[in-house]
Amino acid sequence: MKRIAVIPGDGIGNEVTEAAMHVAEVAAATFGVDVECKWFDYGADTYLKTGVGLPEGALESLRDDFDAIYLGALGDPRIPDMAHGKEILLGLRFGLDLFVNYRPVKLLNERLCPLKDRTVEDLDFVVLRENTEGAYVGVGGIFKQGTADEVALQEDVNTRKGVERIIRYAFEYARNHGRKSVVMSDKSNVLRYGHDLWQRVFEEVRTEYEDIESWHLFVDALTMQIVKNPAQFDVIVTCNMFGDIVTDLCAELQGGLGLASSANLNPQTGAGLFEPVHGSAPKYSGQGVANPLAAILTSQLMFEFLQYHEVGAAIENAVRASIIDGQVTRDLGGNLKTEEVAIAVADRVGG
Ligand code: NAD
Ligand code: IPM
Ligand code: MN
Repeated sequence: MKRIAVIPGDGIGNEVTEAAMHVAEVAAATFGVDVECKWFDYGADTYLKTGVGLPEGALESLRDDFDAIYLGALGDPRIPDMAHGKEILLGLRFGLDLFVNYRPVKLLNERLCPLKDRTVEDLDFVVLRENTEGAYVGVGGIFKQGTADEVALQEDVNTRKGVERIIRYAFEYARNHGRKSVVMSDKSNVLRYGHDLWQRVFEEVRTEYEDIESWHLFVDALTMQIVKNPAQFDVIVTCNMFGDIVTDLCAELQGGLGLASSANLNPQTGAGLFEPVHGSAPKYSGQGVANPLAAILTSQLMFEFLQYHEVGAAIENAVRASIIDGQVTRDLGGNLKTEEVAIAVADRVGG
């Protein structure tokens, strides 16, 4: 039996998580897989009531008592500094040392791609985003705040260990998944310290993987190449901030944020936190219009991580079938509500 901690979070996070867990339960039952979900109310409402994002001991319990963590989305206009998101989402990424942010970019249906004449074969790669360092560490400060001389510092932290483990993971991932190439992307032409480290580590590590083709692209050129010729990519590895930006661009190429899934992993400890790439989309919250497919495909990643590969494959096939049948939300040209899409996908899981 596998235990899953479910944190629906804020805004549409609630609706898409309900939808994804419905599909997950049906898929698990169809294949005789035993999963138990425990729901947690960590998010904006709890934070506003109690001042606490992630309660004491929660991190340890999520780590020790569960096989996987599933998160909907966080973000609420009442908490403009995202203090609770920092505690919960970044708290879990950093606290559980989930250094791999795995974001697959896969076109499930040609009709969804905004690029001209692209087939599903043309868009099938993964972005591996460093997930514990960079500009996200919150090191910095403000000096002379509110004056004309105000200074704001936000440090970009790159460590040898952090850079090496994600680059090495990219090559290992390519090797273990039959991927031909790894592209490392940085901005080392300008960031002469932090990203020079990325360059040097990449040059070193790639010599150990001569069976994998590898090359480097500056991140501005990377975004251009992703749009121009996405078929050239297999595995892209990059820093925290660039990975965040690039994967929203990649989401759009797959049909929008309503389709992009992600996993936060530590392959050494075996910890995994699964979340769609999108946020809480406050303006759509509570209306039943959010596309749950990103959340549903995120549950697929979770089942694969738990080694239930046939459950994962069935979920992906069911999503594909629902798209073909037009059983989708309005962002994909359909007229179903979030919940109805979940039912449509769940109905297709067995077949
Ligand atoms: P967002 O991803 O929430 O939404 C941006 C736009 O994308 C939406 O307005 C909508 O048009 C579209 N969209 C996103 N998800 C969709 C879905 N499932 N179905 C249909 N359309 C969808 O990004 P934002 O508006 O920049 O951020 C809103 C809040 O979410 C902020 O507080 C932000 O910090 C937070 N956020 C959280 C996460 C996370 O928890 N993992 C990720 C991104 C943003
Ligand atoms: C994402 C989100 C988060 C990030 C925010 C909400 C902290 O945009 O998961 O892509 O920047 O990592
Ligand atoms: Mn993002």
